[in-house]
Amino acid sequence: MSNEPLVISSVEGPIAILTLNRPQALNALSPALIDNLIRHLEMYDADDLIRAIIITGAGRAFAAGADIKAMANATPIEMLTSGMIARWARIAAIRKPVIAAVNGYALGGGCELAMMCDIILASETAQFGQPEINIGIIPGAGGTQRLTRALGPYRAMEMVLTGATISAHEAAAHGLVNRVCPPETLLDEARRVAQTIAAKSPLAVQLAKEAVRAAAETTVREGLAIELRNFYLLFASEDQKEGMRAFIEKRAPNFSGR
Ligand code: HXC
Repeated sequence: MSNEPLVISSVEGPIAILTLNRPQALNALSPALIDNLIRHLEMYDADDLIRAIIITGAGRAFAAGADIKAMANATPIEMLTSGMIARWARIAAIRKPVIAAVNGYALGGGCELAMMCDIILASETAQFGQPEINIGIIPGAGGTQRLTRALGPYRAMEMVLTGATISAHEAAAHGLVNRVCPPETLLDEARRVAQTIAAKSPLAVQLAKEAVRAAAETTVREGLAIELRNFYLLFASEDQKEGMRAFIEKRAPNFSGR
């Protein structure tokens, strides 16, 4: 086994960049890699200095799925009791904004990981798919649900039943990715979006993320209640006072995070 870290982590001011780093296996998401990713995500989620997180992949893949070799001989009981898949929910539970910079294959669990992020930027070389059907299983980390919300039932059904992949441009045309960038500018575009978000009030960002997420995860009635609760709550923050005062005084706001 190589001594290379499975996840390379770097911090640029208020932005943390996490690079999935098993390029020789197309960043197949082994249990160790996922644990490593979760550890970094939760560490940065708890770090007040970090305002946005970018996930990308080393080499020619974002991630080509869960590690098939690690699952091939598993029993259902092992899959259940190891928490191997269940712990992926912790990725979707990160409160800070997470941007996926998808540089190549985003297949199976790799596509599901991208869909757990809040914004998906794709390079022209990206490919998205849920090819689990080709190996006798189905998506297990949200693919049948999140892909269907993103693409609609017919496109999602075709992808999940045939295992066919779609290009970055197709994904963008149908709402699975925010936009497509040339490979050489993908990370800079992710940094630009992350910097823009990092300049906002972190409280407002967190509560906005929670409310938008609620649209996909709850009923409209519940989502509206969460939105309204968060809206009211922000009037308790110094950042709301500062943001509105700065507007009235025609100057840039200086958000403190309180
Ligand atoms: C383990 C993987 C892998 C994976 C690629 N590799 N994907 N290993 N798990 N998901 C390894 C290959 O075994 C190979 O290792 C090396 O990466 C390079 O891959 P190649 O196949 O040689 O590359 P290429 O011919 O370019 O084909 C690229 C590919 C293909 C089309 C992406 O690798 C592929 O189809 N991968 C599997 C995609 C998939 O089925 N994903 C879903 C997994 S199931 P060696 O040692 O041979 O060089 C899943 C379930 C999620 O994600 C459930 C919830 C979490």
